[in-house]
This record gives sequence, C-alpha cells and structure tokens, in this order.
Amino acid sequence: MNKTAHQMLVIFGASGDLTARKLIPALFNLYKGKHLPENFVVLGVSRSDLTDKEFRKKVVLESTYLKEKMDGEAEDFIKAFSDKLFYEDLGRDYDISYDRLHKRISDLNSKYRTGNNFIFYLSTPPGIYEVIAKNLFDQGLSDESQGWKRLIVEKPFGYSLETARKLNQGLQQYFNESQIYRIDHYLGKETVQNLLVTRFANSIFEPLWNRNFIRHVEITNAESVGVEKRGGYYDKSGALRDMFQNHLLQIVSLVVMEPPIADGAEEIRNEKVKALKSLRIMNDEKTLFKNTIRAQYVSSVVNGEKVKGYREEDGVDPESTTETYAAIKFFVDNWRWKDVPFYVRTAKKMPTKVTEVVIHFKSPHHHIFQDSSANNKDNKLIIRIQPDEGILMKFGVKVPGQGFKVERANLDFYYSSLVETHVMEAYERLLLDAMQGDATLYARADEVEAAWEFVDPILNYWEDGKDVKVYGYSAGVWGPTNADELIDGLYMWRNPGENLSDDPGFCVIC
Ligand code: BG6
Repeated sequence: MNKTAHQMLVIFGASGDLTARKLIPALFNLYKGKHLPENFVVLGVSRSDLTDKEFRKKVVLESTYLKEKMDGEAEDFIKAFSDKLFYEDLGRDYDISYDRLHKRISDLNSKYRTGNNFIFYLSTPPGIYEVIAKNLFDQGLSDESQGWKRLIVEKPFGYSLETARKLNQGLQQYFNESQIYRIDHYLGKETVQNLLVTRFANSIFEPLWNRNFIRHVEITNAESVGVEKRGGYYDKSGALRDMFQNHLLQIVSLVVMEPPIADGAEEIRNEKVKALKSLRIMNDEKTLFKNTIRAQYVSSVVNGEKVKGYREEDGVDPESTTETYAAIKFFVDNWRWKDVPFYVRTAKKMPTKVTEVVIHFKSPHHHIFQDSSANNKDNKLIIRIQPDEGILMKFGVKVPGQGFKVERANLDFYYSSLVETHVMEAYERLLLDAMQGDATLYARADEVEAAWEFVDPILNYWEDGKDVKVYGYSAGVWGPTNADELIDGLYMWRNPGENLSDDPGFCVIC
C-alpha cells in the first residue's frame, strides 16, 4: 500500500449535491479501509451559511447517502470521522478576497499538522474554476515551496474545443499542468482500468487486437434513468457533451491505444492522447449525416404506466432538440485499426443500465459448419463495465447430437466472484490517487482537447447542418430502430435486455 502524506482536502461547492452524494461517502470508505493519512482534515467551502457542526450533520450524521455505509459502525468511529470535517462560509461570492479562507486553512493546517499539503477540489459550476484558481494563486496557495498543492476539477471540462482550450490556459496561469487533476469518474471504475490489464497482461488478446482479427468494435452506455432533476443543465449539454466527449472517449482511448512502455501516468497518458488524435475527424456533411444519429426519448407506456417524454421533463425546453441518444460510427486512422469501424452509443431512458465494450472478431475465413445467423457467427469479447462487472467471451461449441451444429457458449469472469475483494467505488479510487499524487486516471489537458477536436464538428453539424434530423424513440426501448442501419452488414447493436415498451421503431422529431 502506498503511503499517503498528511494533507487537507478543501472542497469548493461543499454544500452541493456531489459532496454529500459522492465525495463524503468515498472519504468514509477510505477512512474505513484505513487509507486516510493520520493527519487529515476536510474543509468544505461554499456560499451557504453553515457551522462545522451543521456541515457534519448534513454530509455525515444525517446524510441519507451514508446511512447504509454507517449501519453497524460504532458511534465513536463515526464521530471520529465527522470530526475531521470543517466548514467555511465564503460569503456572497466565489470572487472575493480569500484572506479569511486563507487564514482558516492556515489555522487548520497548524492545528492538525497537515504538512502544508492541500488538495483543492472544485465541485462548482465550471464558469468559476478560473476565478477560484486565481484567488488561490493570489494567496500563494498554489505555491509548492512548502508542501504540495493540487487542483481537482469536475466535468464538464469545456463546452467545445475553444472553451476547453480557454479553460486549460486559464487554469495553467495559476497552477502547473502537473498540479491539475481533471476527474472523469469512468476512469475510476475497476473494469475500465481492467481494460488495460486485459490487453497488456495477457498474451492471448493483444496479438488479436487489430484489424487482422477484429471486425468491429461496439461500445454501449445505456442508462434507464432520464434526466431526473438535471433538466436545466442537461438541456444545454446533451448526450454527446455529457457522456460521449468524456467518459466514452476515455474508454475508446483505452481500447485503441498502443501498449505503453510502462504503467506510469505519463506513459499511459501519452498513448491515450495518441489514440485520441488518431480518430478520424468527420468534417463533411455527407459523412456526418451517414455516421451520426441523434435522438430524443418520447413519452411511452411501460408496464401500464405513462412515462414522460424528454420535452416534458422539468427544466427542459418544450421544443428542445437536445439529444438524449447519440450513436456515432467512426474510424481510427492508424496501422492497427485501419478500416475497422467503431460504433459507440450513449443514451438515457433505455430498458436497462449497462455499459459494455464488445469486440467482434472476424468470422472464420472459410465456413465449414452451419451457424445460425450473422450476429451469431463471430467470436465476441464483452467487457462489462457495469453492472455485473466482468468479462465474457463468446465462442462456438458443437450442439450435442448428429452433424455439426454450432452454438455460442460463454466463458466468463465476474468481479463479484472474488468474495474477499473490496472493489473501490470510482470516487474512492480517484480521490486516493490524487491524495497520493498519481495522475494516471486523470485526464491531461491535451487529452481533453483531443477529445473535443473529434466531437466539435459533430456538435456543429447537429446545430447547423442541412439534412440533420432528431429522431424520437419511446422511453424504455433500445433507441430508434434506424440506428441499426449505422452498423455495416447484417449486424445490429447488441442489446443486453428486452425493450420495455411495446412500440420500438422511431419517428422524426424535427
Ligand atoms: C455523469 C453524467 O457524468 O455520468 C450523467 O453527467 C450520467 O448524466 C452519469 O447519468 C452516469 O454515471 P454512471 O457512473 O452512473 O454510469
């Protein structure tokens, strides 16, 4: 186990949802697992008028997000954890003098001997990241001459290539790139990291991991939920910005990348950037028309109950054309992947929640035996990112009896079978990494920009393109059925589950 230095975690936006829902539960798990350093405090900062006691009550003692985790734990044990938490009210604005905040940080640092090592976690709207960074800098709080200083920023990191670049330049005026940790919680998922191990710790997959053996790659991210209470944010974002530009392209980069020379942060991130830069950027309208599909869920009936359409959700413009479904076909211009199509989709209001990577291997060059259907002919490697984290290989076996009828069988591994192992939650893992200064699972500036370079033309086309359409799909089905046409040949998307609504199909919304 790596040693974690004494430190203070300063969370900006601490009265917000993310702190209570994800950050504090992740810290509690780290505390339970004895991963926190001996001298450690959390200072919550935001514009709400709270005392230390009220903050502790809100995010620990009375938090519904922690209730289950705290069940069965001794009162003293919980109290010792909540005593590590403090709160500072910033007042009316994030852009005010940080003199008082600085003094509070210094007092806590001296009293609890946190070694002048500070992480500043920005869980605020991105519009104020730069202001906070500047104010910290003005107070000398990015200076590393005594103790290290790190800045963690949440997504969305930019709204377009231009805004992402501006944000990078803005932050880099006050913190060095090596101090900036851009969080993408998908990278904290055990099975996303396992992609690297599957590829580079086995000699049976990597030799096949190329255009000679792989027919196509399919990545699905489906959520059964809709936009819930985030309609206001989501309507200005859409699936491509919300999920594809970050989480899904991170997964793509791990599938596409070349073997790094070692497992260090820079070696891995260099290869990921190279991978993202090799995605073929689609610029002309014809290609964008053929290779991208955007759609929105419309109201439907699931189990006899009416389910709202996207345009009826709170905070959503009733004439919105924002996509809740995005499917993109693209190619990777390098030696390994030439001519191998990648199909990636993400959507809300699907029949189930699932994220998986499916590697479709080419079928045997000469068919001796009769297989049942095109979809059933290939070997598939399915990397299940969530839920049921694991790996599944589909291969042909003989159906017992006369002749040679072939069926697909499964060879599988599920993390849940490792009874003794505690699989860290994404935020738990990522926070611990940042505390230890390991940036491997954080996105670097050039990585984020490379992802935007690919996404920008699609967004522009969807906004201003000529023949561009928004399709409708019923809430509870696997997206608009015409999305199957994106996939070459007789193949279709692999849909792990049944439609929930009786009306699959699609309509044109506009
Ligand atoms: C977030 C998106 O980044 O990821 C949400 O903003 C989405 O819209 C969420 O629901 C999905 O995360 P997970 O870990 O539940 O797949």
